[in-house]
Amino acid sequence: MEKLIVAARDKNYEIAIKTGLSKELPAIFKEKYFGKRLAIVTDSNVYPLYGKEFLEKLKKEGFEVELIVFQAGEQSKNLSTLESIYTKLADSAFTRSDAIVAFGGGVVGDMAGLAAATFLRGLGYIQIPTTLLAMVDSSIGGKVAVDMPQGKNLIGAFYQPDAVFTDPKFLETLSGSQFSNGMAELLKHGFIRDADLYNVLVSGDFNRNDLKHKMDELIYNSCLIKRDVVEEDEFDNGVRQVLNFGHTIGHAIERVQNYSGLSHGEAVSIGMALITEMTEKMELTRKGETEKIKLALKKYGLPVKLPSLNTNDLVKAIALDKKNRSGKFTIAYIEEIGSGKLIDMNLTELEGKIHEILKDHIEAP
Ligand SMILES: NC(=O)c1ccc[n+]([C@@H]2O[C@H](COP(=O)([O-])OP(=O)(O)OC[C@H]3O[C@@H](n4cnc5c(N)ncnc54)[C@H](O)[C@@H]3O)[C@@H](O)[C@H]2O)c1
Repeated sequence: MEKLIVAARDKNYEIAIKTGLSKELPAIFKEKYFGKRLAIVTDSNVYPLYGKEFLEKLKKEGFEVELIVFQAGEQSKNLSTLESIYTKLADSAFTRSDAIVAFGGGVVGDMAGLAAATFLRGLGYIQIPTTLLAMVDSSIGGKVAVDMPQGKNLIGAFYQPDAVFTDPKFLETLSGSQFSNGMAELLKHGFIRDADLYNVLVSGDFNRNDLKHKMDELIYNSCLIKRDVVEEDEFDNGVRQVLNFGHTIGHAIERVQNYSGLSHGEAVSIGMALITEMTEKMELTRKGETEKIKLALKKYGLPVKLPSLNTNDLVKAIALDKKNRSGKFTIAYIEEIGSGKLIDMNLTELEGKIHEILKDHIEAP
């Protein structure tokens, strides 16, 4: 089993990674959490696949368990679903010694985490990520949030889990596009911090079956990168912003498409290609890196060109991004693969540069 500790301000917690770990979880839970009531928060896809069996096993071990299932998808990551979680916790008289278990992808993790951070000013919170994106990214680092119609993740907190249990076996049922979605964040970690990880990911042809045997290690390496960055800057005031590589444009695409077009990973993939094209033109990025990034993304089925959308809307959406601090944007870019950097730009300058590259970037309808 691969294990790593994340040292946060308020607590240290462990991420355990092992294919097949989910089989051991009822026994691990009995040893660590017996006596707590658990609220399993999951979605309508994960529950029939894995949640039901897990719940039954926990009950068999003698746990008192509440089940909270919501409709799968980003559209559910909102205040109204959050309220339904609070209602269930209140109706079941949850106390501060009880815990929430986030069993699902990033949407489940972000929302269950925000419920845990705020209900009774803080409940225990355990993550069992089931998508690749959640395993390599959203389950680490304590950012929890819900969306508003005005933007993504606008209501949130920093709240660290007590533990993360990662079983790559769950990935077997993940669709191809959801797998690619997670690969976008894994590749991102290579692009910004680890040329070796990038080299492993670009070598050979992509075959999901072959990758299966490497998954524990790849996830571990990716978690290490995120762990190191988050430990340096838990509250996202400095170096952590390098993890936003591709996200300023990515979030804007998601927003213009009303969160029902490209997935988060696909949008970030286009964002990484676009921003690198921009910084290569500005001579901040070594010549040729855009092409390398695009090839790597394409290998995992990720898009690198914008779908047809109104570019003025896109630029407007960029201006509304959370990363806009008093008109100044901190943009994450790469100097070369493995070396992520930050640069401050004002809105007018950024808009100008983005308009310049957008004209070559629209996919033919
Ligand atoms: N907190 C953070 O630091 C952070 C970082 C990156 C992304 N995010 C957030 O994560 C979210 C995206 O996460 P996601 O891509 O995991 O989305 P998701 O949670 O919506 O999961 C994607 C789809 O896969 C399904 N699914 C989950 N596990 C499955 C499995 N094992 N087999 C088959 N289907 C499965 C889900 O039901 C859903 O339909 C976004 O809301 C994004 O903002 C948060």
